[in-house]
Amino acid sequence: RVVPVVLCGGIGARLWPMSRSQSPKQFHPVADAGSLTFFQSTVQRHRAGCYADPVVVTATPHVQTVLRQLAGLQCEGRLIVEPFARNTGPAVLAAALEIAAEDPDRLMLVLPSDHVISGDFDSIVADARKAAEDGRIVLFGITPAYPETGYGYIVDGGIFRHNAALRRVAKFVEKPPREQAEALITSGSAYWASGISLFAARTIIDEFRRIDPKTFAAVSLAFENGIRKAGQVHLGGEAFRHARAEPTERIIFEHSPHVILAPADITWSDVGSWTSVHGVGQQDEKGNVFHGDVIATDTENALVRAGDRLVALVGVPEVIVIDTPDALLVTRRGRCQDVQKVVELLRRSQ
Ligand code: GDD
Ligand code: MG
Repeated sequence: RVVPVVLCGGIGARLWPMSRSQSPKQFHPVADAGSLTFFQSTVQRHRAGCYADPVVVTATPHVQTVLRQLAGLQCEGRLIVEPFARNTGPAVLAAALEIAAEDPDRLMLVLPSDHVISGDFDSIVADARKAAEDGRIVLFGITPAYPETGYGYIVDGGIFRHNAALRRVAKFVEKPPREQAEALITSGSAYWASGISLFAARTIIDEFRRIDPKTFAAVSLAFENGIRKAGQVHLGGEAFRHARAEPTERIIFEHSPHVILAPADITWSDVGSWTSVHGVGQQDEKGNVFHGDVIATDTENALVRAGDRLVALVGVPEVIVIDTPDALLVTRRGRCQDVQKVVELLRRSQ
């Protein structure tokens, strides 16, 4: 069976101040309070059927949250705990080592935990299985709907071995500027990188060993020296520090001849910025999305999340206001990728 590997150690900096380093986006409810969180809906989407229990990779501060949210689903999952975040590359390798200890040929489905998805993902995984068993790294691509600058793109390199459902990868473009994103869309041959991928544990381990031996050695040692207790592996911090803090895309996918693209016909959104929260929200006749106590005149296409107090807008179209008890964000639609700069500035000043 396929092992879902759920990545949930990121900080979701572009959704500050809702997303905090102690309480990042993936652990918040997708819709209103009381609904499943992004993390829970990811776990729930890949249960039973062709799937084994998940392996969840997260960082130390989130262990209790993960255990609580898994218990809420009555789900038994194994945890791999990072002493500190080193981005997704080392996290994926650690999961592969855990899975390969049982069976190196096991397939793993790597899942970011910050997406909203609808559609039949199981049949898409089933179609890609054979290629993954043959040593390919399958990356799922989404037909782009608009020139989003917050996503990576995968450019189609043509048909893969007489199988129209699978494509070669011509190149990757990570988070392009606006004009380049527009050109990619116009070209008609680029897909959004969903961040979801399927491969055998052995395949990715071999590629790390070959392409980035230093990170391979660091993560292997952190895994061997890790502390094991009740379904958890706490990676050794001394060694893990030497792993390259980069996404799997940059360390492996951009350099591996084994990557292939599987276009996936599903509805998918990262909801990674306030602009995309506005996009998926319930808009009124003026295009405004308001949560909580809000009044507005002469204002269109605004997003407001009021906290404990009333928010009033007068003549400020496109504005975004996110109020929380200890921090207030005011920005504009289209400037939301820069919200993570606030998080960087705060870090530096600490
Ligand atoms: N365990 C662990 N450790 N998980 C991590 C870490 C880490 O250090 N860093 C990030 N993650 C998790 C996040 O919690 C999230 O679920 C997922 O990995 C992806 O990280 P993001 O930080 O949200 O990446 P992104 O959205 O900027 O970009 C990636 O996803 C896009 C689509 O959502 C890239 O893959 C893009 O190419 C892609 O388009
Ligand atoms: Mg993301």
